[in-house]
Amino acid sequence: MRVHIERLSTGVEGFDELIAGGIPRGFFVAVVGEPGTGKTVFCIHFIAEGIRVGDKNIYVTTEESRESIIKQAAMFGFDFEKAIEEGKLIIIDALMGGRDDPWSLQSLDVETLVNKIIEAKKYLGYGRARLVIDSMSAFWLDKPAMARKYSYYVKKVLYRWDFTALLVAQYAVTTSLGFGFGIEHVADGIIRFRKVVVGGKLKRYVIVEKMRQTPHSLQVHEITIDDGRGMRVVGATAYRREDTRLPASVAARMLEAELKKLLEVAETGEPLETSDNS
Ligand SMILES: Nc1ncnc2c1ncn2[C@@H]1O[C@H](COP(=O)(O)OP(=O)(O)O)[C@@H](O)[C@H]1O
Ligand SMILES: [Mg+2]
Repeated sequence: MRVHIERLSTGVEGFDELIAGGIPRGFFVAVVGEPGTGKTVFCIHFIAEGIRVGDKNIYVTTEESRESIIKQAAMFGFDFEKAIEEGKLIIIDALMGGRDDPWSLQSLDVETLVNKIIEAKKYLGYGRARLVIDSMSAFWLDKPAMARKYSYYVKKVLYRWDFTALLVAQYAVTTSLGFGFGIEHVADGIIRFRKVVVGGKLKRYVIVEKMRQTPHSLQVHEITIDDGRGMRVVGATAYRREDTRLPASVAARMLEAELKKLLEVAETGEPLETSDNS
């Protein structure tokens, strides 16, 4: 039996091939990685492609201003300013937006966010839409335990509005272990970006960790970001463990923290040692 799935191109050269042609319509996909790995650039391509094919586009930015996103897009040849003027794109600025700016967020709470996105979608009108929230992490900075609940809420409410969404989650450099990342639990897909210094040079990689209803690539692929052109998949790479292993000193510090946490738990529970018996 043949199952037809409508897929949206990501607009990144060489990436759609890794996911059988694109992201299935209506999916909420987590885009995760450490700072500087290319998450925002990836999202910009996704929105630029949406503008190109006539989708409605909403970009929520919490870590950079609207102007910064427009500038970054322009560097790759995408005219976001024009798209905004033509009513094809709304950039919701949660960082710099002033009170007189209708498309800004005055507070970083999830309910305000969701309401603003729905308002923007109504403004743009009916039809297939693309949504980027860059990043979700900003909404639970001071309460990481809420990450999963918030992610669930965002998906549950926005699901009905014909969005195909990229939800960005920032991975802290020292805690790639997964602390307070809730998006992955509700996401239909996970696209993971990485960066590594190899032979004194920064290299970037991407791997599709999950994409429901998709025979996706299981390989790590190297990517590049070039001026005037943007992101591009260079090719599959032989992925060695040492390529992503943390420096020994960092790993040691993380282990130490983990151990400390365990001991704290142990202190409040059963005693660890029973040396009296020996
Ligand atoms: N015009 C450009 N030419 C080449 N590389 C660029 C250009 N603009 C941005 N980059 C690269 O993109 C990186 C930022 O990627 P970004 O997607 O913002 O990371 P993050 O994962 O933190 O969102 C920069 O560090 C730089 O290497
Ligand atoms: Mg970013």
